[in-house]
Amino acid sequence: MHADESWWRHAVIYQIYPRSFADGNGDGMGDLLGVLERLDSLKELGVDAIWFSPFFKSPQKDAGYDVSDYKDIDPLFGPLADFDAVLAKAHSLGIRVIIDLVPNHSSDQHPLFQAALKAGKGSAERDMYHFREGKDGNTPPNNWPSVFGGNAWTQIDDGQWYLHIFDSSQPDFNWNNPKVIEFFHDVLRFWFDRGVDGFRVDVAHSLIKEEGLPDIEEISTSMTGSDSEPTEEKPHPFWGQDGVHEIIRGFRKVSDEYEDRAMGAEAWILPLKKMAKWVRPDEYHQTFNFAYLGTQWRCADLRRVVDESIYEFGQVGAPSTWVLSNHDVIRHVTRLAYDEIPKQGDGIGPNYPQPDEARGQRVGRAATAFMLALPGSSYLYQGEELGLPEHTTLEAKYRQDPTFFRTNGDRVGRDGCRVPIPWEADAPAYGFNKTGKSWLPQPENYRRYARSEQAGVAGSTLELYRRLLKVRKEFKLGLGSLKWVEELCDDSTLVFDNSGVRVVANFGSPIALPAGELLVTTQHDLTIEGVLEHDQVAWIRL
Ligand code: NOJ
Repeated sequence: MHADESWWRHAVIYQIYPRSFADGNGDGMGDLLGVLERLDSLKELGVDAIWFSPFFKSPQKDAGYDVSDYKDIDPLFGPLADFDAVLAKAHSLGIRVIIDLVPNHSSDQHPLFQAALKAGKGSAERDMYHFREGKDGNTPPNNWPSVFGGNAWTQIDDGQWYLHIFDSSQPDFNWNNPKVIEFFHDVLRFWFDRGVDGFRVDVAHSLIKEEGLPDIEEISTSMTGSDSEPTEEKPHPFWGQDGVHEIIRGFRKVSDEYEDRAMGAEAWILPLKKMAKWVRPDEYHQTFNFAYLGTQWRCADLRRVVDESIYEFGQVGAPSTWVLSNHDVIRHVTRLAYDEIPKQGDGIGPNYPQPDEARGQRVGRAATAFMLALPGSSYLYQGEELGLPEHTTLEAKYRQDPTFFRTNGDRVGRDGCRVPIPWEADAPAYGFNKTGKSWLPQPENYRRYARSEQAGVAGSTLELYRRLLKVRKEFKLGLGSLKWVEELCDDSTLVFDNSGVRVVANFGSPIALPAGELLVTTQHDLTIEGVLEHDQVAWIRL
């Protein structure tokens, strides 16, 4: 058992994507009122914390990751008072609340960017962002690509260019400017003072750009892709620059002014060894483990990534985190139905080979049961407790992700994992609201996955998640440690012990279950003497 039992070391954190969780006012867009009405269901599920994707004032060019006021809620989601009500209710249910901090860029409508545009070349206002002259006439200052496709620079009327690693509506802040640091420390304190328990820090690895903004040698266009992973020998000019550590330490000092708060970094494509440096004792509390998310359901690969994660984070005394789904990737029950993981972040469209739904459900449930037994903290994405698949046939006319538009539809984007989730099979919009409106259309198969069809139904994915979370808590698996049971592991079986629970994962032909009381299993008809089928997981009391 870990001596430090701080909540963030072992919490199961449930991600709410506010647009699509529940819609209280019936306008087709999820909101905080909807969250308030549905919070009890998260208590029943057994999560320890919620992380909210952004609900701040925003023109919604990137679904809220383009913030125009960091200290207010967008009217789409409700007034600030609704957030206070959600926070109070969550706390009364014993659920902590983490919110998103988007420090790499603001919206182009943010007053600071508007002031920079007005103030002109060389001004202090422009120094809050990255404005540069182009190379000879009409060429951008360097060759950096936008993660969403196209160029990372946009030219304005006076001839200067501004940098945006994402959409042109998301200008990057200049974190070498102390005023930017001050600005964000103030934002942190504003929300900490209101009572939030922590922050998830968006694109935490791109805040510092290499001095001189040199060209990139190998171009990668994906936030989540691994085609040009930075390494010690080959640093990247904007992913994972070392200067970021000073900024993290500043954040940590602010969060340490308060009791029991935590901050976690969202940082893709950096190797685990490098990520571990981000969670040294005076830096972030946690960081997302995207190496884990990017690993296929394959015995040897999983063992390798688990070992490496526990080792690397252990070196700095930090817990590992685990995650399979979020609002940027293909939902894992769909993704894991493919032999090769489709390119992360790009979604699946009607013209892509369609997934084998049954296989995805089986492997997806097994992957979750494996993950939730690991020591450390785990993230869940709304709807995965229902086994909700990706919407893979969304028509082009409904697409909203800037990736779709910036690549002329070549990359369909992330809308397929962001569709409003189903609550009641026979209600309008499957219970997302009472009017039947939905900002993205829900596919017909969501009816089958509705919570109403699963609650209390033995063997359903919802009941599986509830049971996993219950047993995980009872045995304090999050605070435990992992020990492989070598004599039971082979190239198609993984078996490990953690805190009095033996976890058996079968990737190959059926195996006899080791002796012991069956605590929970993905295989509904399994009995103690039974045979564990392929792509199934069982937890047994030691
Ligand atoms: C990562 C967020 O998760 C993603 O949704 C967003 O588009 C980018 N950062 C830009 O903020």
